[in-house]
Amino acid sequence: MSEFDAKELRAAFGSYMTGVTVVTAKADYGSHVGFTANSFTSVSLDPPLLLVCPGNHLSSFDVFKKAQHFAVNILAEDQEAISNLFASSKVDRFAQTDWSEDRFGSPIIDGVAASFSCSTHQQIDAGDHIILLGEVRAFENNPAKGLGYSSSGYFNLNPQYNIAGERTEPVIAFAGALIVCGDQVLVKEVDGKYELPVVESTDPYRDPSAIGQWLTDRGLDVEIRQTYSVFDAPVTNEHFTYYRATARSLDGDSVGKFVPIETLDAERMAQPGATSMMRRFKSEFSNQQFGLFIGNADSGDVHPPPKN
Ligand SMILES: Cc1cc2nc3c(=O)[nH]c(=O)nc-3n(C[C@H](O)[C@H](O)[C@H](O)COP(=O)(O)O)c2cc1C
Repeated sequence: MSEFDAKELRAAFGSYMTGVTVVTAKADYGSHVGFTANSFTSVSLDPPLLLVCPGNHLSSFDVFKKAQHFAVNILAEDQEAISNLFASSKVDRFAQTDWSEDRFGSPIIDGVAASFSCSTHQQIDAGDHIILLGEVRAFENNPAKGLGYSSSGYFNLNPQYNIAGERTEPVIAFAGALIVCGDQVLVKEVDGKYELPVVESTDPYRDPSAIGQWLTDRGLDVEIRQTYSVFDAPVTNEHFTYYRATARSLDGDSVGKFVPIETLDAERMAQPGATSMMRRFKSEFSNQQFGLFIGNADSGDVHPPPKN
């Protein structure tokens, strides 16, 4: 029996910042198992070894104790929901995730930052966990950055994701676009004001496809270049993510019309936050150095542009 309070000890351990993984395997009986783990450590390059620590509380503990093979999926920065899925009981985790088997049958989850297919190298009993050492038999390293975890909360190195964490209430999210062709930008004039193309989106942080598809459906040939502005409009309880995009032709009639950026009056933008965004866009357009604004409709910071 430990002399420490388990909760306090767990909290102290939890102040160590880590990434988040999902450890998976295929059971003898053919089903797949997996759980969220932050006990991952890289161990050795030659031979290539890693470790994770499955606890004896896991419903899949016996499978991992017997497993000849397992896989470690390093979750990407937009995979918080997958971490929660594989840490919560009573749901069919694999029915709610896109994944495929590696050559040993262990599930590799789509979109992860990296994955390692392992054969079991050694197991060491360690109190209420085991140290499961795996020899890496294959791996994949993707460009996505990893998801972070510290003191029971997720964090992210990409500032565009962090704004969501500061909110207390759900908001209506919109994805919009500043679409440029040559030196003109696409706007719709309504009652003397300018509107930018905007659609309601359930997932604006990481995925410009909602606005991209909306524009394609209207016959526009547009390439999304970068996330340009991410902000809340607290008064209307709305959240906006605008993308900078380029169009291949000046035909935007189904959405609005192209007007020269230089003569466009930024003070006449209709949507929340769009006036200050357009002021910045006009000045950045002249030197072609575009930042990423993060904040709210009144204030915020401009960061270096992210890689989209
Ligand atoms: C961020 C995070 C890290 C975790 N790390 C571990 C770990 O390293 N080892 C472990 O046994 N459980 C870990 N857990 C807890 C398991 O993921 C959780 O208990 C699991 O869902 C239980 O699976 P089961 O429902 O199949 O028993 C972690 C949970 C979270 C949210």
